[in-house]
Amino acid sequence: MMIAKFLGTRCPNSRRLSCTPTLQAVRRMSVRPAKHPPAATSPPLTPHAKTTIARLLSLRASKTPITALTAYDYPTALACSAHPVDITLVGDSLAQVCLGYPSTTRLSLDEMLHHCRAVARGTTSPLLIADMPFGTYAPSVSDAIRSAIRMVHEGHVEGVKLEGGGEVAEHVRALTKTGIPVMAHIGLLPQRYVSLSGYRVQGRTAESASTLLRAARALEDAGAFSIVLEAIPAVLGAYITEQLNIPTIGVGAGPGTSGQVLVWDDMVGTWSGHKPRFVRHFADVRKEVARGVSGYVNAVKNGSFPDPDREGYSMDHGEWEIFLAAEGRPSWTWTSAPRNAPTGDAVPEN
Ligand code: KIV
Repeated sequence: MMIAKFLGTRCPNSRRLSCTPTLQAVRRMSVRPAKHPPAATSPPLTPHAKTTIARLLSLRASKTPITALTAYDYPTALACSAHPVDITLVGDSLAQVCLGYPSTTRLSLDEMLHHCRAVARGTTSPLLIADMPFGTYAPSVSDAIRSAIRMVHEGHVEGVKLEGGGEVAEHVRALTKTGIPVMAHIGLLPQRYVSLSGYRVQGRTAESASTLLRAARALEDAGAFSIVLEAIPAVLGAYITEQLNIPTIGVGAGPGTSGQVLVWDDMVGTWSGHKPRFVRHFADVRKEVARGVSGYVNAVKNGSFPDPDREGYSMDHGEWEIFLAAEGRPSWTWTSAPRNAPTGDAVPEN
């Protein structure tokens, strides 16, 4: 169908043609950087105080819940920094929720570093911690130091998290002595899901609860600045919290911990896998994404996107005529898909 009307449409009060393809050399990017990028080098969107370890200790002392959230890229990091999130954690849940691996054990240090750098670029006020991937710390204390230094140097994180109880206390001590703050992680250890026979709640027997308490004390003694408690009974979460002098951050450990952490995709409802009991969706982003993608596809198919006047660039009518004359096609007219037609195959341009 000929739509010469678009070619000939002149913008009111101007010699410019709307709806014609631009020939201007200026490259228009849909992803141009913001004029004032709210990155680590700029002031945060909202000025929150930078989280320090001393601040976490004082939040714990005043029983003000600590907020932690995972982030895996620049936009999620910016979102954390725009709100009073105290700790942004580049969790190794990255493996599943972003990279499509079946478990966290597949994640390499290089993959983690790539995402840490993106998160660091978007992080301002939250303390930036990242998980040490499986196999990068357990083999030896020197492995742990080497890997953690890479995370600081190349990933630009401020501290590391590692999974394990008393058996990693020596690693925690060495890292802390090296000057790298360590967040410990006990309870359900996703990196050990095979040894644990699955993703199971821990600490439900008296013996298992005592083991966890001993581990928490050993990790605190080794210098951990905080401990994540994952999937343990709420009453045990509260008890361990009371027994320690460092903040506990719970994920499935009840409301008695010093703070809470959630995986970003669980929090916004985009993760399509198993939803553990302790997850609450605070938004339904998956539904919105589906609405957006189907709206976009339909609009392209039926020709209603892009709107030539509001979403296109114009060209000076005279320039266009000179161009066509130079092309030797002065009577060329633009054909395109019918606009606002029902969804279906677009009519090809000639
Ligand atoms: O990997 C992760 O996201 C985590 C949090 C659930 C604490 O370890």
